[in-house]
Amino acid sequence: MNIIITGASRGIGRETAKIFAANKENLIIVISRNKDKLHNLMIECRDKGAGKIIPLVFDLENIKENEKKIYDFVIGHMKSVDILINNAGFLQKTLFTETSNDTAERTFNINFFAPAQLINLLLPLMGKEKRSHVLNISSMGAVQGSAKFPGLAYYSASKAAIANLTECLAEEYKEHNTAFNCLALGSANTEMFNEAFPGYKAAVSAQEMADLISDFAVNGQKYFNGKIIPVSVNTP
Ligand SMILES: NC(=O)c1ccc[n+]([C@@H]2O[C@H](COP(=O)([O-])OP(=O)(O)OC[C@H]3O[C@@H](n4cnc5c(N)ncnc54)[C@H](OP(=O)(O)O)[C@@H]3O)[C@@H](O)[C@H]2O)c1
Repeated sequence: MNIIITGASRGIGRETAKIFAANKENLIIVISRNKDKLHNLMIECRDKGAGKIIPLVFDLENIKENEKKIYDFVIGHMKSVDILINNAGFLQKTLFTETSNDTAERTFNINFFAPAQLINLLLPLMGKEKRSHVLNISSMGAVQGSAKFPGLAYYSASKAAIANLTECLAEEYKEHNTAFNCLALGSANTEMFNEAFPGYKAAVSAQEMADLISDFAVNGQKYFNGKIIPVSVNTP
């Protein structure tokens, strides 16, 4: 399968890329700003002799000005895209009135506008030969009625926006051979989680969350479209 994962330099994205790379039939473009970490991931997976990892070192905040560059990179490596996982995320914990405009904009740029623009860019390459899957990674904080935490207002609102977009696109592109789903994750032990909730230990590891995400990305499009699915065993 041809797979694109954003935010694969660490945490859940990196573990998800490793799972896909265990299958030698997979070609995986991994995106983040960190060249060294993506390179190490590529080498680690290559040494295991399985699926191929292709790093794309890129700041998703700059996607609007670089659409052609990304599109050309993707079609240079794969003629179609079977799975797009919008996993990259940005969380800066600050109370609402203390959040700078820059932080508020960055939060929405990375968590909402970048995935939206990536979908827009890559949709023409999806659903051609077989049913494709756009999987957006949101948060439990985005789910109506879920527990909320101080300092996460912009983050949760941006994650609610990408969850809502998922439902809208499933309707707008229901004739397109592509499913749009959203996993609203609860806590998983990653650097992001540890920075947001110091001292807490999540019940789920990054690898366990990646097991679910990779399985759902491959099989979920058969059974779900336009769904926002909470994935949570504890709070936070
Ligand atoms: N862990 C949790 O408990 C939890 C709970 C709910 C939802 N989530 C969501 O799950 C996803 C993965 O979370 P995580 O905990 O694994 O996060 P993480 O460890 O902080 O990893 C975030 C990834 O996003 C990438 N990224 C951030 N800004 C970027 C940018 N401007 N351009 C390109 N890549 C960028 C980072 O790469 P570089 O820094 O190398 O660019 C990194 O690979 C996120 O969307 C997060 O919001 C996580």
